[in-house]
Amino acid sequence: MQHILEELEKRRAQARAGGGPQRIAAQHAKGKLTARERIDVLLDEGSFEEFDMFVEHRSHDFGMQDQRFPGDGVVTGWGTINGRVVYVFSKDFTVFGGSLSKAHAEKIVKVQEMALRNGSPVIGLFDAGGARIQEGVDSLAGYADIFLQNVLASGVIPQISVIMGPCAGGDVYSPAMTDFIFMVKDTAYMYVTGPEVVKKAVNEDVSHEDLGGWRVHALKSGVSEGAFDNDLEALAQIRRLIDFLPLSNREPPPRRPSFDDPERAEPSLDTLIPANPNKPYDMKELVLKIIDEGDFFEISPDWAKNIIVGFGRMDGDTVGFVANQPQVLAGVLDIDSSRKAARFVRFCDAFNIPVVTLVDVPGFMPGTKQEQGGLIKHGAKLLFAFAEATVPKVTLITRKAYGGAFDVMSSKNIRGDVNYAWPTAEIAVMGPKQAVEIIFRSDIGDPDKISEREAEYKAHFANPFVAASRGYIDDVIMPHGTRRRIVRALKSLRSKKVSNPWKKHDNIPL
Ligand code: HXC
Repeated sequence: MQHILEELEKRRAQARAGGGPQRIAAQHAKGKLTARERIDVLLDEGSFEEFDMFVEHRSHDFGMQDQRFPGDGVVTGWGTINGRVVYVFSKDFTVFGGSLSKAHAEKIVKVQEMALRNGSPVIGLFDAGGARIQEGVDSLAGYADIFLQNVLASGVIPQISVIMGPCAGGDVYSPAMTDFIFMVKDTAYMYVTGPEVVKKAVNEDVSHEDLGGWRVHALKSGVSEGAFDNDLEALAQIRRLIDFLPLSNREPPPRRPSFDDPERAEPSLDTLIPANPNKPYDMKELVLKIIDEGDFFEISPDWAKNIIVGFGRMDGDTVGFVANQPQVLAGVLDIDSSRKAARFVRFCDAFNIPVVTLVDVPGFMPGTKQEQGGLIKHGAKLLFAFAEATVPKVTLITRKAYGGAFDVMSSKNIRGDVNYAWPTAEIAVMGPKQAVEIIFRSDIGDPDKISEREAEYKAHFANPFVAASRGYIDDVIMPHGTRRRIVRALKSLRSKKVSNPWKKHDNIPL
């Protein structure tokens, strides 16, 4: 009997050794943890239950029959994060560069299916060279099996991808269909085709970093929702994110006892809005001052910075925040900010997370670049996302809410549940100067008359009371009481039940 037990231990040790000490040392030398070390950091201590550690590839081509590693380049299983079950797969770059064989794909699909059945998130840790070249079409089929599971699970369980090394070819499309992609700075890069293919196809010389490093995806393309300094930081932040999220769409987001008084007044907010309406201020200050303990998990903090989105808590409950940022491009809605916020609102709606919208928006960005880039369709995504969302929606207009952007930003008429404004709000079709120059064009040559008209327009529209008198705003509230009023509004909406007309699915302007 003893030798049978020893045999098991021997096999386990062999699997845990991955691609061997040399390749592990090379992995560490690049500043990366191994697949197993990453899982240990991500999950609660001792909670990992591994599956399929003895699975091997079944290829006999190109000498592969003589190269077998138990586990075949991916470590899979489940464990807990602060006691809540999550499923994980972690690509092992030390085994065939983490490349995907059919057997490797089957291991991932197994955890994807279990997570979907059991209602728990899937977290994928990527560090891999794409399709296992020696396996040809079997590898491609394996990817397709994974993609299908990504799509079936979308909106049912949270899916999170962390790119911690190379991520090329087939490996980029699975993350692309998950809810969030995070990258590790300097070690991670992701692209559909690498620099060599780029050179051959379009004769462009480009480095890995410039083609798909974190600066490309977390700052420019928006493909990644954030980048962290190293493996440890990234994994710690994923643990933090999971704490905000429900395990599936079948349950409410987790409640966490808060030591922050829900009635807390914040007198400094009474002076947040500058006297000059064209002067910026930091909307993030408002977010941080009204949420529990200032604990905010921002999504895409470095891309489309004219809109802020992320998770916070109000009296212990997870809330998704969408807020125009007057500090960047005056908080205007453009293609990127519309896409960023639309996707976030849809995530919240899919996972029963109430949305709080903080509005200070001068309108949509004018110009040929935006129009030629399809601003109409992209802006419509955000309008669509807010309008279709059935989760509780609380809106606060702090200053400008001009034109179509007023409608878009979770207005009453697209089913905002509770819509507040500060006394500093200006709700109008456009800013006073522009408006006067259009409706009193004949007076343009007379500066006195124009400024008189402007003052008249301001007195009429540059306040929240016209909108409030029509019921488009439910109440005008004191800035210092914002936390209390939003907490109370969200409480009143806890049992909200609204459903949209039956349909197979909608046709959001993609
Ligand atoms: C098999 C692979 C592999 C792959 C890497 N390896 N990629 N084995 N299939 N795709 C192996 C290497 O042979 C090597 O084995 C080990 O992994 C480490 O690789 P290195 O090249 O030494 O590492 P590094 O210099 O860090 O470069 C990493 C890399 C590079 C940039 C990822 O390996 C690379 O370019 N790989 C190929 C990428 C690629 O073109 N993949 C196919 C994409 S097509 P040893 O034994 O020496 O340790 C695709 C189509 C799917 O994915 C489409 C589905 C929609």
